[in-house]
Amino acid sequence: MTNQKPQRENFGSKLGFVLAAAGSAVGLGNIWAFPYVVGSNGGAAFIFIYLLCLAIIGLPVLIAEILLGRTTQRNPVGTFKALSKSKLWYSVGGMGVAAGFVILSFYAVVAGWSLGYIYEALSGVLVEFVSADKAVEHFNSLTANPVWIIGMLFLFLIFNMLIVVFGVKKGIEKSSKILMPLLFVLLTGVMIRGFTLDGADSGIDFLFNPDWSKISWTTVIIALGQAFFTLSLGMGAMLTYGSYMSKKDNVIISAIEIVILDTSIALIAGTAIFTAVFAFGLNPSEGVGLIFHTLPIVFSKMTGGYLFSIIFFILLFIAALTSSISLLEVVTSYFVDEKKWNRKKAVIIMGTLVFLLGIPSALSFNLLANFKIFGMNIFDLAFYITFNFMLPLGGFLIAIFVAWIWGFDKALKELRVGAEKIFEKSFWQISFWQVFLKYFAPILILMVLLNSLGLLDFIINSL
Ligand code: TRP
Repeated sequence: MTNQKPQRENFGSKLGFVLAAAGSAVGLGNIWAFPYVVGSNGGAAFIFIYLLCLAIIGLPVLIAEILLGRTTQRNPVGTFKALSKSKLWYSVGGMGVAAGFVILSFYAVVAGWSLGYIYEALSGVLVEFVSADKAVEHFNSLTANPVWIIGMLFLFLIFNMLIVVFGVKKGIEKSSKILMPLLFVLLTGVMIRGFTLDGADSGIDFLFNPDWSKISWTTVIIALGQAFFTLSLGMGAMLTYGSYMSKKDNVIISAIEIVILDTSIALIAGTAIFTAVFAFGLNPSEGVGLIFHTLPIVFSKMTGGYLFSIIFFILLFIAALTSSISLLEVVTSYFVDEKKWNRKKAVIIMGTLVFLLGIPSALSFNLLANFKIFGMNIFDLAFYITFNFMLPLGGFLIAIFVAWIWGFDKALKELRVGAEKIFEKSFWQISFWQVFLKYFAPILILMVLLNSLGLLDFIINSL
């Protein structure tokens, strides 16, 4: 409990915090996106760059975000208000809350598919496909149905709201403590099944045997974007969870544990999926459809496919759920802290608004498929704007704020709290953190932003 705001809830334990934050990190980004991004960008060489991005940029920014939240014990807007007098910085918090809102609106659409696919798996449809076309046809016929897609979106958001309404300890922490270990066990089960398939080794080869010729600037930029998204950085989700962290706990160690958990789950998911995809001679660079188009064929051909199809979509749903609660929590904490709403009101009103905003994203797969802005449908546009602009910009500004505005004097004093035992001994590591946050993170993120604006090519070509 803090003396400033005694009524604010805290996580009950460090484990609770780490599992909840890892729950936010591990999501569709790990299980749905990571494998297809790896698949379409050349496999192992991409993974190598991705790991580098996590270490040099992801971890330093993650520490910065958690630290900001834990210092002020507020939501993103309140945090910048407490640490800076300038309105400009509050708006960074405001952009984070807005990003949370938009991300949740399209994230919940795909999360809804995972829910719908649990039903498909249970009914046995997913093991009856004779060809890849049939699986794609099935997916298209489901998503072409506005009632199905909006219904699943709605149902998913109900689960999400039910958890967030119970608050930090009883809702988020408790559910994460049950769901995260369950996710881990289920995913490991699927991975072991993948390993035991004939022909699994070409999948392993693809994932862990680098072909350096596949690396280009674009690869680096995609890897950095993926590192950001997977760690839930750049919009104050980790900041908000950090605001419920106890001052007794160690920010550095917790952040390292979150990165390790997140990365292991992405790698396990990649292994589980690629061993199977290669074993059945399917295409690894299928793109966004990898999970919903390709896996059902795998399940249809594999012994035990019925059971594994059910397990797989349950674990996909769990991963999406624990991530989406962090998105709703950011929005909720803003209205609870700043606007003094009670939690229930904030969750119901904001959950409903997210649902309404999600409808056009959901309809992008059917009724609004031809409605394009800048050549993109609404779902793609929401994804593009947040993934390529709002999150990198938020991360850039958070790094700049901690390193250059708030300053390392104050930041280190706060970082030491709860880390007294290791702090003096970790001089080198902490200096690295400072250098990465002050120079590497801003410069590299800036390049991503310029690239999204199409300016990077222009600059490189004119050199
Ligand atoms: N990290 C999640 C994933 O990998 C997605 C997510 C949850 C997220 N909260 C976020 C991404 C906040 C960016 C910001 O699926």
